[in-house]
Amino acid sequence: MIKPLVAGNWKMNGTSQSVQEIKALDEKARAANAAEKCDILICPPSTLLVAFSHILKDSPIKLGGQDCHANATGAHTGDISAEMLADSGADYVIVGHSERRMDHKERDCDVKAKAEAGWRAGLKVILCVGELIGERSADLTLKVIERQLKNSLPEGATADNLIIAYEPVWAIGTGLTPTVSDVAEVHDFMRKTLIDLLGDQIGGNMKLLYGGSVKPGNAKELMAASNVNGALVGGASLKADDFAGIIAAYE
Ligand code: PGA
Repeated sequence: MIKPLVAGNWKMNGTSQSVQEIKALDEKARAANAAEKCDILICPPSTLLVAFSHILKDSPIKLGGQDCHANATGAHTGDISAEMLADSGADYVIVGHSERRMDHKERDCDVKAKAEAGWRAGLKVILCVGELIGERSADLTLKVIERQLKNSLPEGATADNLIIAYEPVWAIGTGLTPTVSDVAEVHDFMRKTLIDLLGDQIGGNMKLLYGGSVKPGNAKELMAASNVNGALVGGASLKADDFAGIIAAYE
């Protein structure tokens, strides 16, 4: 049995006032004994990691960063290393999110270096893949996913240190979602590809998250799709009520 992970990606949202939201989420998760059914993660902007890590000291909710630089230290103005995230209380880091790939021109090889950096700092890495709308229309979805997986997976992946998130770019923040059978097709394909690349033990047990417009109202259906082991949630992770409603898909 793969224990699911429900992860929230706050993106560039949240200020010191958001501690109220994280406290409310912590209370709801504890009251529902949610952590027995799934792992729970919040990836706030890095400015909030230290404050949140104090609040969540004894909480089942874990913290993660949204990106990291490939290097541990150095002259990289504005960047944050995986070691700094770990030092601020993170246990996870997201790499290769489509917004990073687009806004910062990150290539598969950059994503690979960032994943290696995450492991170097002892973080679990959530590696994002997903096709553009034009690629889906041209029937290239599985080709794109295969290329992204093959080119961005570093040596040394295990079912514990790596999580894959499938996020069709056209579904992110749009309210659109693929059908459950489309999600299952991609997740079954990712499972097979990972088993081919990493063997049964690792590829067969790695968590595969779905992300893109997951909401309380569609979470149960999407999470029940074949080979979906959790969700990566953007907009609906910002409010404790909504995020708790998604976590409840596993109760
Ligand atoms: P969304 O974002 O849930 O707002 O669509 C998902 C993501 O980008 O991780």
